[in-house]
Amino acid sequence: PTCEDLDPVRYITNRSSGKMGYAVAEAAARRGARVILITGPTALETPAGVERVDVRSAEDMRRAVQERFPQSSIAIFAAAVADYRPAEPHTQKLKRGKDELTLHLEPNPDILAEAARNKGDRLVVGFAAETDHVAENARKKLAAKNTDLIVANDVTAEGAGFDMDTNIVTLFARDGRDLPLPKLSKREVAERILDEVVRLRSAALPARPAVV
Ligand code: C5P
Repeated sequence: PTCEDLDPVRYITNRSSGKMGYAVAEAAARRGARVILITGPTALETPAGVERVDVRSAEDMRRAVQERFPQSSIAIFAAAVADYRPAEPHTQKLKRGKDELTLHLEPNPDILAEAARNKGDRLVVGFAAETDHVAENARKKLAAKNTDLIVANDVTAEGAGFDMDTNIVTLFARDGRDLPLPKLSKREVAERILDEVVRLRSAALPARPAVV
């Protein structure tokens, strides 16, 4: 998740635990990738062999991504970025009062869409947490965000989504393949995402010249 501060003691966030993103980072490191994990606040331990960059807000995350995206060959965006942030965060604690309080929120940048716009030959994976029309929304996101793969889940399904150890996803690939997966551990989902990344990457790479 990201945390969007309202004042020094209060913030807006969401129910993401970070488990899916950490599982992907761990699986990639286990396969021998050099992994940079840009993470919002979580209670999780850093997976072995992973370089961890801690951020708090979407704006911090955007800066960290902008800095490191150019060094990457594969970028996987599993963060649950807050869509809105307080327009005027207070530097001092807001006092309790008797009147109604209206919060003015402004939209956060779409970190994935921004980075993927100039992705070059990087392979970019996005996530989509949906509550309805999963396939339709995922296919739209694939194009709108210029990604190669969208990992979509219906967060209302039992055994899927926030703060669980399991997930039920469908992988929608740029080349038209839809791969629905059964309920799996997030660890196993991470492996299947990486298998799909490897498949797309191998298809994109020129055939190796024969050694004579
Ligand atoms: O549009 P939506 O939020 O459903 O898209 C989800 C995907 O976009 C996820 O991969 C998420 O990490 C990314 N995202 C982002 N910045 C935002 C919102 C979503 O990078 N502000």
